[in-house]
Amino acid sequence: MAGDLRTRDAPLVLGIETSCDETGVGIVRGNDLLADAVASSVEEHARFGGVVPEVASRAHLEAMVPTVDRACADAGVRLSDVDAIAVTSGPGLSGALLVGVAAAKALSLTTGKPLYGVNHLAAHVAVDQLEHGPLPHPCLALLVSGGHSSLLLVEDVTADVRPLGATIDDAAGEAFDKVARLLGLPFPGGPHIDRVARDGDPAYVDFPRGLTGQRDQREHRFDFSFSGLKTAVARWVEARERDGDPVPVEHVAASFQEAVVDVLTRKAVLACTENGIDHLLIGGGVAANSRLRQVASARCDDAGVILRVPRPGLCTDNGAMVAALGSEAVRRGVAPSSLDLPADSSLPVTEVVAP
Ligand code: KG4
Ligand code: ZN
Repeated sequence: MAGDLRTRDAPLVLGIETSCDETGVGIVRGNDLLADAVASSVEEHARFGGVVPEVASRAHLEAMVPTVDRACADAGVRLSDVDAIAVTSGPGLSGALLVGVAAAKALSLTTGKPLYGVNHLAAHVAVDQLEHGPLPHPCLALLVSGGHSSLLLVEDVTADVRPLGATIDDAAGEAFDKVARLLGLPFPGGPHIDRVARDGDPAYVDFPRGLTGQRDQREHRFDFSFSGLKTAVARWVEARERDGDPVPVEHVAASFQEAVVDVLTRKAVLACTENGIDHLLIGGGVAANSRLRQVASARCDDAGVILRVPRPGLCTDNGAMVAALGSEAVRRGVAPSSLDLPADSSLPVTEVVAP
C-alpha cells in the first residue's frame, strides 16, 4: 500500500530526449531530480555552423544505451524500478526523434511499464517544477530555443497549453546562432554572444525591434520576428567592413542581444498583464541568457509578475524535462500513449501527451 501511494504521488519516471543534438536521459521521482545524463553531439556539428540531422541521428544511436546506463547509475535505480517511460515524440528533427521514440518503446516493452510520448515545448515548461515546485495554473510561458519562440498560456501543463503567439520567421536561438556566425563566434552562438556582450554597450547600435509597430501590435500582438534584425546586423557589419573599419564585436553583440531581449520581455509581460496572469515562466535554451534573465526580472518586478526561470543547465535540452512532464502526467492520471506512438516532427504544442 505504501508503495502504491509513493508510485501515485511521486512516480519514478525515466525521460528520453533526442529532438535535436542532445541525447538526454533524466530520472525523477515526483518533482525530485535523481539523474540528468546528457551526451551532446554539438561539436560534430560546429564545423557546419548548424545541426546536421543525419549526424545527430547517428550520434543519438551511439549514445543512447550508455546514457541510459549512466542515468540509472547516477540515480541508483534499475530499469525494472521505474514506474513509467517518457520520451519526446515531437516537435524536432524526424530522424533524431525516431531514435528516442524507438528506444523508449523498447524500454517500455521490456519493463512492461507505460509509455508517455510528450511534447518537447511543454517539457521545457514542466522542467521548472524540479527546481521551483508545482507550477501555478494558469501561468504564462515564454519558450525560446533554437527551433521555437512562443508565448503560451498554460492552464494545465499536461493537458491544456494554448499558443498566444510565436515567431513568424527565425526562432530567437536561431537568430543568436546566425548573428554569432556573422561576428565570427563559434556554434552554437548564444552562449558566446552572452559572454562577449558583457563587455559591450547595449545602446551602441539601435537595432530594430521586430513586430512592435502600431499595426503589428494589432495584427501580431504576441508574435515575434527576428529575421529583419539578423539582416540589420549583417548590413551594419558589412558597411563597417566596406569602410575598412574594425567591427566592435562586443558592442554589436550587446546591441543585438538587447533588441531580442527587449521584445521578448516586453511582449511576455504584456501577455501576463492583459490576461490577468501573475506568473511568467521562461524556458528553452535562450532562457539561459544572462541579459534576458536580468531584464525579465526587472520588468516582472515592475508589473507585479512573479518570474520563474530554471537554472541554465535545465533550460537547454535535457532528459530531466521529459521525465518531469511524464511524472506530472502520471500524477494527473493522464492515459499513457500507444505503443504505435509516432515521432512527429511538427507536433503542435496543443498536443501535450500523445494518445
Ligand atoms: O532548447 P535548446 O537547447 O534546443 C532547442 O530546442 O532548440 O536551445 C538551443 C538554443 C541555441 O540556439 C543556443 O544558441 C541558445 O539556445 N542558447 C543561448 C544561450 N544558451 C543557449 N542563447 C542565448 N544566450 C545563451 N546563454
Ligand atoms: Zn528545446
